[in-house]
Amino acid sequence: MRLDRFLSNLPQLNRQTVRRLLASSRVRVDGAVVCDGLSEVSQFSRIEVDRELLQAGKAARYFMLHKPTGVVSATEHGQHRTVLDLLDEPDKTDLHLAGRLDLNTSGLLLITNDGQWSRRLTEPRSRLGKAYRVETEQPISPEYIEVFAQGLYFAYENLTTLPAELVIESSHSALLTLHEGRYHQIKRMFGHFQNKVIGLHRLSMGAIQLDPHLAPGQYRALSATEIVCI
Ligand code: URA
Repeated sequence: MRLDRFLSNLPQLNRQTVRRLLASSRVRVDGAVVCDGLSEVSQFSRIEVDRELLQAGKAARYFMLHKPTGVVSATEHGQHRTVLDLLDEPDKTDLHLAGRLDLNTSGLLLITNDGQWSRRLTEPRSRLGKAYRVETEQPISPEYIEVFAQGLYFAYENLTTLPAELVIESSHSALLTLHEGRYHQIKRMFGHFQNKVIGLHRLSMGAIQLDPHLAPGQYRALSATEIVCI
């Protein structure tokens, strides 16, 4: 792969930053400064920025966390505990979140140091299904099923949501599968019916299901099967 492509694939770098790093001789490959982004690198190359080893050569790591409510889906935060605080792992600054959940949402959160993997998972065109259990203040009527399947217009973004599948479980609880991730999407979808979401829990992302043995706040490494199913 080209060095500039490798670098800009990393979640913490964009193309402009990569150009700047290369131009200012801050990138080394196998110990030697390289300024040419077109240079070829391989999975065995030792690539450093400011003498810090990047992902190549480091083992890829993948975790699922049962996010509790009240913990922020971020790697750093001034006020709240973050989901990374719940992980007892070395080199946590290498890790990032493959998708987020609101502060008061619980459930499946995927965490990795593999930027290509998380991009496959989160890029809009993947249309990966994410399933949630939703609890509401008011009863959920069958009318919602058709409205969510048609898509709802969000004026702020000037877009119509992709078809979403709703299965009503009881008067105030339903399973909802989304194929995208707009800001507060589920709360806004139920908001269309003036129905407040009082509980939201993510059960799965694509074929990866939240392990029922994980209590809120617990996590585990993904199995090889879970990693490749994305
Ligand atoms: N939709 C929401 O409103 N919140 C979430 O955390 C996820 C989806």
